[in-house]
Amino acid sequence: MAIGPPPRQFAGVKPLILKQRGRGAGLVLPISLRDIELFAFSARTDATVARLCASQGARTAFETVYSRWGDPWRSASLRYHYQRQKYEQVVALIPGGRFRRALDLGCGLGLLAPMLAGRVDEFLGIDIAQGAIDRARERYDCLPNVSFEQGDLLELPSSLDGRFDLVLVLDVLYYLLDLDDELLKQVVTRIADLSDPGGLCVLANHYFFGVDSGSRLSMRIHRAFTESSRFRLISEHYRPFFLVSFLESLPTPQARPQHHSFPKATL
Ligand SMILES: C[S@@+](CC[C@H](N)C(=O)[O-])C[C@H]1O[C@@H](n2cnc3c(N)ncnc32)[C@H](O)[C@@H]1O
Repeated sequence: MAIGPPPRQFAGVKPLILKQRGRGAGLVLPISLRDIELFAFSARTDATVARLCASQGARTAFETVYSRWGDPWRSASLRYHYQRQKYEQVVALIPGGRFRRALDLGCGLGLLAPMLAGRVDEFLGIDIAQGAIDRARERYDCLPNVSFEQGDLLELPSSLDGRFDLVLVLDVLYYLLDLDDELLKQVVTRIADLSDPGGLCVLANHYFFGVDSGSRLSMRIHRAFTESSRFRLISEHYRPFFLVSFLESLPTPQARPQHHSFPKATL
């Protein structure tokens, strides 16, 4: 994106032009001063999630932040631009054409649904928090090809395997507890199992100039996908303040055992 006059939606808002250093240098995103407030809210939510995850587990942690704040990352708020711009940039990068079934893992309030509903036959959003699912259903009840279900991505039933030619995972995986290399490998395999071979996986995670521990965790997550024999990297894009990778799901090698160690649940 070139530096130029601010787009219309930024009229009256003083833009901060932040350049990404290193990979992706020259890419800029105008964020408003208000978006600094958004980052503060998100940090507060993340701190609460981390504290509750450790003491009460992931499900309770995410249910709590949705019941306390409704929109814990202010993703749907019109007051801020950052999240909306993130969705728009990611969706704009998805190659053209139609998809049969899209799966949004960790869908939150389901904000990708209206942006993709016209390009997919069916869209399913899954989130660990029933509070998020209730709100997503309420928002997008009017979209007939869109549905939302509560579920933990670590415990999805095998009935979903191989069904999706578009899988989206935006800002979710770094919340997984004890995400060591072994668990990461299992998560990559599980997501590959959900995908139709030849399908597209869109993986996006926080990335702040590569300097903070969150960026380093994101790099580790993306590397696990790109190094997996179940995915082929198509392209990756560094944007302030996220990294998005587009990956093609590959068929399971014949010799590879099909099972993995996740418990199976019914949605
Ligand atoms: C930062 S929000 C991102 C929401 C959405 N993907 C977006 O980009 O707006 C993280 C979401 O991941 C969900 N989540 C976290 N762990 C999960 C898991 N194990 N399975 C399913 N969803 C999960 C949370 O409930 C939360 O809605």
